[in-house]
Amino acid sequence: MNAVTAVAHPNIALSKYWGKAPGLQNVPAVPSLSVTLLGLQTRTTVEVGVARDRLVLNGTEVEGAATARVIALLDAVRVRAGSTLPASVTTQNDFPTASGLASSASGFAALALAASRAYGLDCDAGEVSNLARVASASAARSLFGGFVELVPGEAARVVAPPDHMDLELLVCVTTEAEKELSSRDGMNLTREASPYYGTWLTEAPRIHAELRAAVLAKDLPRVGELAEKIALAMHASAFAAGVIYFSGVTTLLYQHVRRLRARGVGAWATADAGPHLKVITSAKDAATLAADLLQVPGVLRVLRAKPGKGASII
Ligand code: DP6
Repeated sequence: MNAVTAVAHPNIALSKYWGKAPGLQNVPAVPSLSVTLLGLQTRTTVEVGVARDRLVLNGTEVEGAATARVIALLDAVRVRAGSTLPASVTTQNDFPTASGLASSASGFAALALAASRAYGLDCDAGEVSNLARVASASAARSLFGGFVELVPGEAARVVAPPDHMDLELLVCVTTEAEKELSSRDGMNLTREASPYYGTWLTEAPRIHAELRAAVLAKDLPRVGELAEKIALAMHASAFAAGVIYFSGVTTLLYQHVRRLRARGVGAWATADAGPHLKVITSAKDAATLAADLLQVPGVLRVLRAKPGKGASII
């Protein structure tokens, strides 16, 4: 038996991936740039040579369709390793699962790394990232730390290290419930039914390029402004297809952040496939801002996260 444990951290996209390139193996239609988060963690152990493939997620055994992406990733690793041995996967998140906090990103990054090492593959981080991407494209970015870019058809890569610029993310948790519509289904519905999807496909790469330049220039207000703009463009395109991840609290928080900005506070908002709002700010403003956001009705907790490192074996 060969057991390997990996840890990986979720990431939050400053410029967003939404939609897939047609006919390819889960290749994003648009480029994205994310920050890997310090302080939130998935820990995954893969043990090869057990009786059958098993998945234990947060202490509970998962069966049936919910294991499909995990088994598909194990199969991809097994094909490369020339192995047919089953494996058990035990994975634990220290933050809410499947509710828009990117648990699939850290989960599949940790799984791709632990499984490739447990089956004896000696591939580099880019190849592990490609394995993770097929399971969940945002997971490709969590293999790496700091500011990470995923461009369609290429392996994910580091744009800048964690300490590159003064930036902190405040995750306003608005529910502990799992989301009703996965990002995969949400983006497929958007492609099929949104009259604005075509506009999204042309605008997203343009905003991404500006945001990337703002990150390299360490220009926090510009990064925040562009991150807020691209997140709203993504949600607008999804909304038009009836794909609504916002709750009332998400909307309240957006308005709150805009009012704060009007008073001169450096705070910008972004949201993913769930109702939580993520606020981009500088380290010096983070404590005061976190206390303020906690006062908004419906906010359960505010998690503070700085840019952190990529996935690793422990
Ligand atoms: C809104 O990576 O969860 O968080 O590849 O189908 O698993 P799949 O989708 P996923 O989508 C993430 C969407 C997003 C934006 C982002 O992280 O770039």
